[in-house]
Amino acid sequence: MSYLVLARKLRPARFKDLVGQEHIWKTLINAIRSDRVAHAFLFTGPRGTGKTSCARILTKALSCHSPVDFEPCNACENCLEINQGIATDIIEIDAASNRGIEHIRELRENVKFSPAKCRFKTYIIDEVHMLTTESFNALLKTLEEPPAHVKFILATTDHHKIPTTVISRCQRYDFSNIPVAEMTVFLKSVVQKEGIAISDSGLSIIANSSSGGMRDALTMLDMLISFSGDQIDDEKVIRILGLNDARELDSLMEAIIAKDVAKVITLFQNLVQKGRSITRIVIDLMNIVKDLSLVKTVSQEELKWHEFLPDQFALYQRLAERVTIGTLQQYFQIIMEVEGQIRRSTQAKICVEMGLIKMCSVESLAGIAEIITALRDSGKKKSPITS
Ligand SMILES: Nc1ncnc2c1ncn2[C@@H]1O[C@H](COP(=O)(O)OP(=O)(O)OP(=O)(O)O)[C@@H](O)[C@H]1O
Ligand SMILES: [Mg+2]
Ligand SMILES: [Zn+2]
Repeated sequence: MSYLVLARKLRPARFKDLVGQEHIWKTLINAIRSDRVAHAFLFTGPRGTGKTSCARILTKALSCHSPVDFEPCNACENCLEINQGIATDIIEIDAASNRGIEHIRELRENVKFSPAKCRFKTYIIDEVHMLTTESFNALLKTLEEPPAHVKFILATTDHHKIPTTVISRCQRYDFSNIPVAEMTVFLKSVVQKEGIAISDSGLSIIANSSSGGMRDALTMLDMLISFSGDQIDDEKVIRILGLNDARELDSLMEAIIAKDVAKVITLFQNLVQKGRSITRIVIDLMNIVKDLSLVKTVSQEELKWHEFLPDQFALYQRLAERVTIGTLQQYFQIIMEVEGQIRRSTQAKICVEMGLIKMCSVESLAGIAEIITALRDSGKKKSPITS
C-alpha cells in the first residue's frame, strides 16, 4: 500500500475530531439538532486548521443514514462516498484554479437539479477569495436564494478579499489557530498510535513551530519520522526544524547585552551568510526583546502558555537580570527604526548593522518603577526630575 502522509491519513472524520474548534462544531451540531441549518456558510481562518475537513463532516452529518448524536456514522453509503470523494452530490470546487465566470455559470445551471442520493446537493468552494469579481457577482443571487435542496460552504484563509455582499449572505464561522497545549495533546495521541518515541518537550516544540496550523504540525512530524525513524530526540527536532537559528539569535542577543560589538557583527554576518533573510532576523530580534520583557515582568507560572526551547527559559532569565525594562524598551525602539529603514533602503544589511551597534551602546535606563523603588530605598524625599 502506498504511504499516506499523516495529514491525509488523519483527516478528522467527525466533529469531535476537530481539535481546538469546539466553538464551531458545537454550534453546527446545535443547528442540526434544531433543524435550523443555514443554506450558505463561510468557513474562514488560518491554513490547516480544519475548514475543509469541517465542510466535509457537515455534509456527511446532513446526509448520513444513521447519525450518532448528530455526528456522521462514517459507515453508511453516503458517508463512505463522501469520505472517498466520489459522492456525486457533493461538488468541491477549488476556486484557486477555477476562478472564472464560466465555472460559476455552470454551477448556476446545475443547482436546479435535485441531488441523486444525498439529502442536499452541496457545493464546497475552497479558497473562495480567489474568485474574480465577475464570478462573485454571478454567485450572489444563487447564494442568497438557492433551491431548498442546495447548501453552500465557502472556505477561505482570507475573508478580507471576499466582497461584503457575499459575506452577508453566509453564516460565518471563524476557525482559530489551534492552541499549543491542545495540539501537543493531539500530537501525543498520534505518536502513541504510530509507535514513535518522542518527548513531550519535542512535541511542544513542533506544536509551537506550527503557528497553530495542524497540517503544518503533522507535516513536520512526518518529516522528522522520515529523517530519524521512530526514535526522535529533542536535539534532532531542533536541528531538523531549523531551530538552531533560534539559538544563534539568542547568542546574538546575549552579545548585544554584553556590548560585544565584534561578536554581534560576526554572529549577524554568519546568519546572513547562511541565507537567513534580514527581515526575518529583525522580526526574530523583536520577538526576543519582547520575550525578555515578558520573562522580566511575568512569573514562570503565568507564562505557562508560552513555549520556549529547552534551556531557553533559563537563558532568558539570566539575560533579563542583566538589563532593565528601560533598556529593553530602547532596544525595541531601535529595532523598530531599523525595520522601517530596511523597507525603504537598498542597503538593508548596513542598516541592521548600524542598529546592532547602536543597541550595544544603549546605556542602562532604569524604568520609572525602578527609579521610584531606588529612591524609596535610599530614603530620598525629592524626585531627581524636580530637583
Ligand atoms: N482542527 C483540526 N483537528 C485535527 N486535525 C486537523 C485540524 N485541522 C487540520 N487538521 C489536519 O490537517 C489536515 C488538513 O486540514 P484541512 O484541509 O481541513 O485544513 P484547512 O483549514 O482546510 O486548510 P487550508 O486553509 O490550507 O485549506 C487534515 O487532514 C488534518 O490531518
Ligand atoms: Mg482547505
Ligand atoms: Zn453515515
